[in-house]
Amino acid sequence: MSLVEIREISKSYGAVQVLKGVSLDVTKGEVVAVIGRSGSGKSTLLRCVNGLEVIQAGTIRVDGVQVNDPATDLRKLRQQVGIVFQSFNLFPHLSVCDNITLAPRVVKKQAPEQAREIARDVLRRVGLEGKLDAFPSQLSGGQQQRVAIARSLAMQPKLMLFDEVTSALDPELTGEVLKVLESVAQEGMTMILVTHEMGFARRFGSRVVFMHEGRIHEEGQAAAVLAEPQTPELKTFLSAVLH
Ligand SMILES: Nc1ncnc2c1ncn2[C@@H]1O[C@H](COP(=O)(O)OP(=O)(O)O)[C@@H](O)[C@H]1O
Ligand SMILES: [Mg+2]
Repeated sequence: MSLVEIREISKSYGAVQVLKGVSLDVTKGEVVAVIGRSGSGKSTLLRCVNGLEVIQAGTIRVDGVQVNDPATDLRKLRQQVGIVFQSFNLFPHLSVCDNITLAPRVVKKQAPEQAREIARDVLRRVGLEGKLDAFPSQLSGGQQQRVAIARSLAMQPKLMLFDEVTSALDPELTGEVLKVLESVAQEGMTMILVTHEMGFARRFGSRVVFMHEGRIHEEGQAAAVLAEPQTPELKTFLSAVLH
């Protein structure tokens, strides 16, 4: 069964249609890499899955729950669907521990001790054990992004959405964040990630989805799609990002 079911969704901002009938299924444990030019609708698609955007047509279900049903409790949904952005959005005045435990304590009513234990666990999973009491300003950009990923993991989501999480980082910091994504994927997390890292997409995107002008223009197994693009648009895109 699909964990994520996106059926013919349409999204407009005013008169501008940004998603033009997008359908996508993601099964449990699958990693789907979304690629495409700037403005093709990748971020909008992720934001729709998380219920951050209202859609005009179609349906989105996550684990059977219809995201675009006004009766759906979006706060509850977002406990199950983590999203990490390019900008880390950590609270600068809070310690790493407090950044990670804030939502579990407020939303899930976790006791401080329990929340701290979970924070310890998720920090270990992103390779930052020992940084529990550090402040964001004391960390590199790559470490801050790993804390942002840990914060999302602390909610124990069923699905994680990553929107160009390495784009703001220097190349040497990109690698450490990609490694964390790899290990989260290996733990069995279902992931949809927008990325320009084609090497990563090839190794870990079990499937690649190429978006072009608000539609899924081409999709398939990563190795095949990247090695043998079928459409001129994907060929052009790949030659631009690979060279
Ligand atoms: N809040 C918004 N209001 C109006 N237009 C928007 C908004 N967000 C995105 N868009 C437009 O929607 C299109 C797709 O954007 P986006 O999903 O961010 O693309 P991508 O992530 O692929 O670069 C772009 O043309 C963008 O300008
Ligand atoms: Mg984007």
